[in-house]
Amino acid sequence: MSSSSVTTGERAGEPDPSASADAAGGGRAAQRDSTETAAAIQTYGLTKRFPGGQVAVDRVDLVVPRGAIYGFLGPNGSGKTTTIRMLLGLVRPTSGRHEMLGTQMPRAAADVLPRVGALVEGPAFHPYLSGRDNLLRLDAGDRTVTGSTARARVDAALDQVGLTAAARKRYRKYSLGMRQRLGLAAALLRRRDLLVLDEPTNGLDPQGTREVRNLLREASAAGATVFVSSHLLSEIEQICTDVGVMSHGRLVFQGSLPELRAAAGVRVRVETSHPQAAAEVLTRLGTGTPELRPDGVVADLGLVPSDKVTAELVAYDVDVRQLVVERPDLEDLFVALTGEGFDVDE
Ligand SMILES: Nc1ncnc2c1ncn2[C@@H]1O[C@H](COP(=O)(O)OP(=O)(O)O)[C@@H](O)[C@H]1O
Ligand SMILES: [Mg+2]
Repeated sequence: MSSSSVTTGERAGEPDPSASADAAGGGRAAQRDSTETAAAIQTYGLTKRFPGGQVAVDRVDLVVPRGAIYGFLGPNGSGKTTTIRMLLGLVRPTSGRHEMLGTQMPRAAADVLPRVGALVEGPAFHPYLSGRDNLLRLDAGDRTVTGSTARARVDAALDQVGLTAAARKRYRKYSLGMRQRLGLAAALLRRRDLLVLDEPTNGLDPQGTREVRNLLREASAAGATVFVSSHLLSEIEQICTDVGVMSHGRLVFQGSLPELRAAAGVRVRVETSHPQAAAEVLTRLGTGTPELRPDGVVADLGLVPSDKVTAELVAYDVDVRQLVVERPDLEDLFVALTGEGFDVDE
């Protein structure tokens, strides 16, 4: 549990979900004017049961708003990769359906997929070709771009992911991190409307992870919707506007980052010599039931903005010695949401 003072511009519990977009760049703002209003990705009861009966993905309803940087979170084995493979048409769902960029899939895959940059496990790179030649081959297979600018595109993509120095090295000599970077370069070969990236920070050191975050921010600022999976909340929390949390094949949470924080039980603690009066103010604002303490009061903040609490206490002349917003680390929340002593199937 970490605490922060409300004077630091705290916005936990902000009820306007679009507020979260401000934190991560103008991607969503740029899309607001767009006439294309459908979600970038929407799934309806998407389900995958593998032969043998195991349900890897269980009736998942994703809604990925246009312009979002959507963090698709969950521990290993929770069904992220299987979901992403279904989105991209690499695995056939057992039941359910999905739309990408407002179009029913997989019917319109040929039109939609060129607008989607994807990174999934085990991309098909040729081991005996250099990173650069691999990208040139991929680019040549893309009928929606002109061949004359291929070299410029490939070199720009290599530069973006920091592979310029290793561009001529054979793929089989690449480290895991370099392979991951080349996969990202392939996804970034041309401007995309949607990026679907499965654990792009896998195998990268902290510096590489930071670089990936910056790339995703840039892609978002350029107008792309980003759908990015990770088993580590901490790796993408800083850039996400929206979050979906998977556990055992089920989507156990979906919403904005502030909503996730509200669901996580962010609490407000008011130190005052008039706990009863403070409790009444909090109740009126719509917090959880306040708990009286000798030196003040504590309550779940819910979706009440913390600066509103301060203003309201002042307005009602409640003396406040200190007001602290206590929030669980999101990592704790992640553990809570995905099992481990907390039944989220209720
Ligand atoms: N091809 C497959 N055949 C059988 N089971 C699979 C297959 N692919 C994945 N699974 C199982 O489905 C579950 C979800 O896996 P996965 O989608 O890879 O999760 P994540 O990407 O979140 O780690 C796991 O239990 C995994 O063992
Ligand atoms: Mg996976």
